[in-house]
Amino acid sequence: MTSQAPTLVPGLAGIPCAESAVSYIDGQAGILEYRGHRIETLAAQSNFEETAWLLLYGTLPTADELAGFRAKLARYRELPPALLATLAGLPKDGHPMAALQAGYAALGMHMEGKLASRDEDIALLIAATPVMVAAFERARQGQPFVAPDPSLDTAANFLWMLRGETPNVLESHVLDVALVLHADHTMNASTFTARVVASTEADPYTVCASAIGSLKGPLHGGANERVLIQLEKVGTVDRVRAWLDDQLATRGKVMGFGHRVYKTKDPRSFVLQTLARELFEKTGSTPIYDVALELEKAVVEKLGEKGIYPNVDFYSGIVYQKMGIPTDVFTPIFGISRVAGWLAHWREQMVDNKIFRPAQVFVGSHDAVYTDLAARG
Ligand code: ACO
Repeated sequence: MTSQAPTLVPGLAGIPCAESAVSYIDGQAGILEYRGHRIETLAAQSNFEETAWLLLYGTLPTADELAGFRAKLARYRELPPALLATLAGLPKDGHPMAALQAGYAALGMHMEGKLASRDEDIALLIAATPVMVAAFERARQGQPFVAPDPSLDTAANFLWMLRGETPNVLESHVLDVALVLHADHTMNASTFTARVVASTEADPYTVCASAIGSLKGPLHGGANERVLIQLEKVGTVDRVRAWLDDQLATRGKVMGFGHRVYKTKDPRSFVLQTLARELFEKTGSTPIYDVALELEKAVVEKLGEKGIYPNVDFYSGIVYQKMGIPTDVFTPIFGISRVAGWLAHWREQMVDNKIFRPAQVFVGSHDAVYTDLAARG
């Protein structure tokens, strides 16, 4: 009964669980790369479709490959009408992340085993995610479904389907860059979830349904929604420092700050901040941005020496809010992008798969005595 107890590392911090070539982080230097390409370069020069291909297949696509992938994504936006009806029938006061999770499961029920290859399933999942988010949003607002426009890219088509109006070039560009920034991030909680579920040889629809549940949590993707709620609660610049003191006195977390790997400012938040400024210059600033700048200054003064700086979620919500996107749709937008990363990891996991089955440190008891129900106290 006695054996050498393994040592527990809470949260598996620093424990490798896979070999991966998809993305790379240097948390001290604030570097993020997808397949060797710096995130700043991709944000400036690439787009979501090209980035998704890069993550999935390891190299930048040729012009023909990219055109083919784009055409395929546009085609796969046509979802089974019964699936759209399922999304429209979900509780309107439910969270859009729960709707997306249900959508992935239902999509798998319609499509699993019907397509010619797993790469087709992958394209369908990437194409379907924004359509399912927009379809649920329109339905819960009591508005009719907007059919996808095959001439638009992923970002512009999502805004079109969300609003039923042609988005302007700047908004489409800002969302496209945000999708590039969120597409992968090494072994984060939802990617780990995706790989664990993939390792059981579950289909990729189930993999995405599982990973989206992990992304929903406020310590992971759900933080972008909480950041906005937090900034609105703080309200004005002059209240920032008192609010922060109260928050830290009760050991509360400041949403949008801190990261398991980065011990400096997340490189993606620099890009998002530049995008926010670009958007504000053209469309007018928002007071919440000034509150955010002051909060960043105050948090870094107090917690910077612990390595706590803004993460990607701190500025993304401010950008989405400025674009008129409802707060609880921020995390689904993260999902629209991250599905590409999950599926790149799914492909990688399948190359030399071994089912995940970690150990535990047992802290229970042995030799318990079974008492009859009638004799229990
Ligand atoms: N606000 C205040 N204190 C913090 C924060 C924060 N946001 N983040 C970490 N700390 C403190 C902790 O209280 C702890 O202090 P202690 O050593 O005095 O107890 C120390 O820093 C270490 O924190 P942990 O939570 O143990 O760090 P961990 O690596 O486990 O967590 C995490 C990382 C979950 C991201 C954490 O920083 C956090 O909860 N941040 C807020 C939520 C958030 O923004 N999540 C988005 C992350 S990015 C993403 O998923 C897309």
